[in-house]
Parts: sequence; C-alpha cells; structure tokens
Amino acid sequence: MSVLKERLEQMTQGATYRPQASVNAGSNNSLRTGSISVRAQEINSDLAELKGRVHRILINRLDLAKLEKADPQVMQIEVRRAIERILDEENAPLSGLERERVQTDVINELFGLGPLEPLLDDKSISDILVNGAKQVYVERKGKLEKTDIEFRDDAHLMQIIDRIVSRIGRRVDESSPMVDARLKDGSRVNAIIPPLALDGPMLSIRRFGTDPLKIKDLIALNALTPELAQLVEASVKSRLNILVSGGTGAGKTTLLNCLSGFIPHDERIVTIEDSAELIIQQPHVVRLETRPPNIEGKGEITIRHLVKNSLRMRPERIIIGEVRSDEAVDMLQAMNTGHDGCLATVHSNTPRDALSRLETMMAMANLRISEKGMRQQISSAINLIVQCARMNDGSRKVTHVSEIIGMEGEIITMQEIFKFTRTGVGPKGEVLGAFKPTGIRPRCSDRLESYGFRLPANMFDNF
Ligand SMILES: Nc1ncnc2c1ncn2[C@@H]1O[C@H](COP(=O)(O)OP(=O)(O)OP(=O)(O)O)[C@@H](O)[C@H]1O
Ligand SMILES: [Mg+2]
Repeated sequence: MSVLKERLEQMTQGATYRPQASVNAGSNNSLRTGSISVRAQEINSDLAELKGRVHRILINRLDLAKLEKADPQVMQIEVRRAIERILDEENAPLSGLERERVQTDVINELFGLGPLEPLLDDKSISDILVNGAKQVYVERKGKLEKTDIEFRDDAHLMQIIDRIVSRIGRRVDESSPMVDARLKDGSRVNAIIPPLALDGPMLSIRRFGTDPLKIKDLIALNALTPELAQLVEASVKSRLNILVSGGTGAGKTTLLNCLSGFIPHDERIVTIEDSAELIIQQPHVVRLETRPPNIEGKGEITIRHLVKNSLRMRPERIIIGEVRSDEAVDMLQAMNTGHDGCLATVHSNTPRDALSRLETMMAMANLRISEKGMRQQISSAINLIVQCARMNDGSRKVTHVSEIIGMEGEIITMQEIFKFTRTGVGPKGEVLGAFKPTGIRPRCSDRLESYGFRLPANMFDNF
C-alpha cells in the first residue's frame, strides 16, 4: 500500500481526533502550558472533527500512488491545495489562523512527525520528553515545562516512533522494546515501549541539532572561562588523552564536540558512538555507529568491536562518544600504545568517580589483571579529566579540571588544576560562583610547551 495512503488511513482511525496543539498559532514561539479553557476545548474538538473529515476526503480524492513519485515539495504543495479546496467546500467557519492550523497539522501528520513538528521547529527547545500520548514536556534553557501537545492515543504515538526508527532501519516492538535512533537533523532519540514502560510509549529526544554550542558560546554562557578554554585547547592540540566526565545531561557531548573542534584539520579522526551525535568540523573524519542485534538476537556490533576495528584504520584521533562498558580496556590500551590525543566521555559525578568507573568497566572485560594493574593502565593512559555538571538553575558548568599524575602505592594520584566554587544564588535564582585555579601548575604544561603553547605564567596562580 502507498505510504501516504497508509498514513491517511491511520489518521482516520482512532475515535476522536484530539487537539494536537495550539503551538505556534501566534507569532511568538511560546507554548501554552497548563489547562485549556472549556471554550478552547470545544474549538479544538470541532477542529479535530474537521481534520478527521479532511483526512477521509483526501484519501478518496488524491492519486496517492502518483503523488508519491513526485518531488516531496511538489507533493506538499499539491496536498496543501487539496486541503484548501476541501476547507472551501466544507464551508467551515474558520479564522485565518485556524485554517492555517488545520492545514499545517494535516501536513505534519502526513509528511512529518505529527504533533512533534512544531516542537522540532522551535530552536529554543533542547529536549522533548513524551510520557505516553497525553504528556509532553520540553526543556528550554535548562528548565522543564509541560506543553499542551497531545497525541491522539498511544497507537498514534507508536506510529510516530515507528516512523522515526524505521528511517534508520531500526524497529521497535514487543520483542525489542527499546531503541536508540536519530532524527535527520542529528537529534538523538530513545524510545522505550510497553511492557517495559508501564504507562505507554516513552520517547526522549535530545535536540543536538545541526548547530551545536561552540566553545565561544560556552564561554558566553559562563560554562567555563576563556583561560580554561585556552588550557583545554592547548591540551587537545598537544595530544593529551582527555576524559569528559559528568552526569546525565551535564553537557558532556556538547563539550566533547567543542574539544574535537580543536583537533588540527590535517589529522584523521575516527568517531565511535552509539548513536551519532558529534558534529565534527574537520574534513577528514570517519564516523562509526554501533548496531543493535537483529530479530534473532544476532549481529550486534558494540562500541568495543568498533574501537578494535578503528585501530586498523590508521586513526590519528579516536573519539568515543561515551565509554560505558568493556570497551574501556581497548580504549586504554590504545591510549597506552601510541594512540594519544584520544577524547571520550564517561558518566560520573566527580573526577575520582570517573576513575573508579573506568576500573569497573575494565573488570567487565574479565581480564586477569590485578586491581593495581588496572589502575596503572588508567593512570598512564588518561592525562586530564574535565568534569561538567548541570546546576540547579539549569545552567551547565565545567566544575573541575583534574590532572592524573601517576600512582602512589595502590592509588592513582590526581591533582585539581581548576575548580568552580559556588558562592551563592543570585536574584533570579542563578548559581553564583567562580572558577579558580588551585595554584598547582600542571605537570602537562611542559608537554604543552613542547607543542608550542606557552600559557600565561600567572594562569595557574591562585590569588
Ligand atoms: N554550557 C551549556 N549551557 C547551556 N546548555 C548547555 C550547555 N552545554 C550543553 N547544553 C545543553 O544541554 C543539553 C545536554 O547536553 P549534552 O547532550 O551535551 O549532555 P550529555 O551530558 O552528553 O547528556 P547525556 O548524559 O544525556 O548524554 C543539550 O540540549 C545542550 O544543548
Ligand atoms: Mg551525551
């Protein structure tokens, strides 16, 4: 069956067609939150009925098979015209705005991701969190807010999830109820459905987008200081192995992306990710992505497989989106055997935690190495840990830069070079504080100098 026909038929199913959204109805982009008035609900349900009728007429009227062969833009113009004519014939008492909304909603359903489209159009939204058909939250400037966007029912939401994941050849159903995917613009998507999710399908979208934050944006947002930026730039260019550590949504991937921007343009970069999020600016880049198992549970390709393979690809830089399992072993080995200048992120709350997480991950590989042996590998592989965190005002900050300097007995020794200290809360609830050097001149500064980076003499002074 033609895809358009199938979609139209799906759209006419479902008893009532609930309001999709009153988003973008005006010129400002703000979503109305909270309850909708009774009058607004009536209007919405009238519109919903009208849209249902439009769908049914469209199925009968359009030559869908022929339309699908046309250019997508031509196709949309044709459908828009057809809707226009149907609305004229229906003689529905609609305002200009309502008419526009009916058209846009139908087009979004047919060609896009339905109720998600207005959210995806809004560049100020960084996360979209769908908890079943009736609850959609968004994050703006670090704060979560509920929207009045709704899906018709769980089946409708499942159709949209299906559309997203099938585009990249993945699937989601009872036998594989969790899936990672990505939108065309690079946003990361995770879907998890019943029976694992108890209250209907759950969809989480991280808008990484085509225009991620750059280091100058992070400085402007006060996530780090120009001096810190200078230090990390020199460290990347001097081929130190750097781990970006942080909790969920702390800005690890964003920072990793910025760090990768400092890699010289003539180096061959291999990126390895679960779902490709990094946007590498350099021309010479090989992007690798893991693959989940197929329907028989076979054919899975993990980060570890890809790290091993990448070593045979003559990489000059290996960037691992997130180390979370036994691939840590191969990453550390690579770092210790001449592949320096690697970058990776790890999920942990302090630099010290990041080290113990690495140890746990190495243990997952069941190698017969003593604890001390593991620590030795870690301490000789990693040079810097850059810790970031999400503050309670929604901002993200680099909170520590720590250098690993070796072992003392059984323990890895690490020294803090920069630290963010909170001092209070400002009038708008913003976190106040300062980035301060701890007064320790990092050991790596000799290496930075050997690469031609003379950092200001007083940069590490704590006054
Ligand atoms: N310094 C910053 N200031 C404001 N927003 C930021 C900053 N850094 C990142 N963000 C935003 O925060 C969100 C989370 O960022 P990011 O994806 O980098 O986090 P993460 O730690 O990799 O998350 P996860 O643990 O889910 O992988 C994104 O929407 C990003 O645009
Ligand atoms: Mg991330």
